[in-house]
Amino acid sequence: MGCSASAPRSGMEQSAGKQGSEPEGEAAVCPAMQSLYDKLGGPAAVEAAVDIFYKKIMADAELEPFFEGIDMNKQMRKQVAFMTFAFGGAPHYGGRGLYAVHKRLITEKGLREEHFDMVAGHLVATLQELGVAQNLVDEVVGVVGPTKAVIFGDGTQ
Ligand code: HEM
Repeated sequence: MGCSASAPRSGMEQSAGKQGSEPEGEAAVCPAMQSLYDKLGGPAAVEAAVDIFYKKIMADAELEPFFEGIDMNKQMRKQVAFMTFAFGGAPHYGGRGLYAVHKRLITEKGLREEHFDMVAGHLVATLQELGVAQNLVDEVVGVVGPTKAVIFGDGTQ
């Protein structure tokens, strides 16, 4: 309780035409109580974002070769699970660590930090396209950005 400010809702649900509708429940009334996941619009919003995100990646000639032979439906499900966790929508992520997952791509396929930046750029463009407010896009970047040091690190974090 104690949160009466009616800050504007700025997630993807706004672009879905619900702007101005009454928020329901305490978390909806009090932005400070919402996870980034909730603010983005919950499961449907993250699934929509991951779908568009991978379409952009696969349409990028620099990035597509890294996904050769990968089952993209599985990949998208894993990414939804990871982002759900990373944005505070789930307490655990059951997949492998990001360092271990991407190591082969670095040693065998020449994955470099500039590829990471391109992927991050597609994520930002995806969210902007979906009408996500810039402050939330910045929050997403704040969560995803540090994974760069994990992927290109020495496996200790
Ligand atoms: C932006 C930060 C990134 C995040 C958060 C991320 C996240 C993930 C996750 C959660 C998985 C599935 C892990 C599992 O199997 O349990 C994965 C796998 C994969 N990622 Fe990333 N990733 C990122 C950057 C990249 C980049 C830059 C590339 C290449 C351009 C890439 C290519 C791949 C590929 C090819 C796989 C499948 C690996 C395999 O199954 O052998 N990722 N990533």
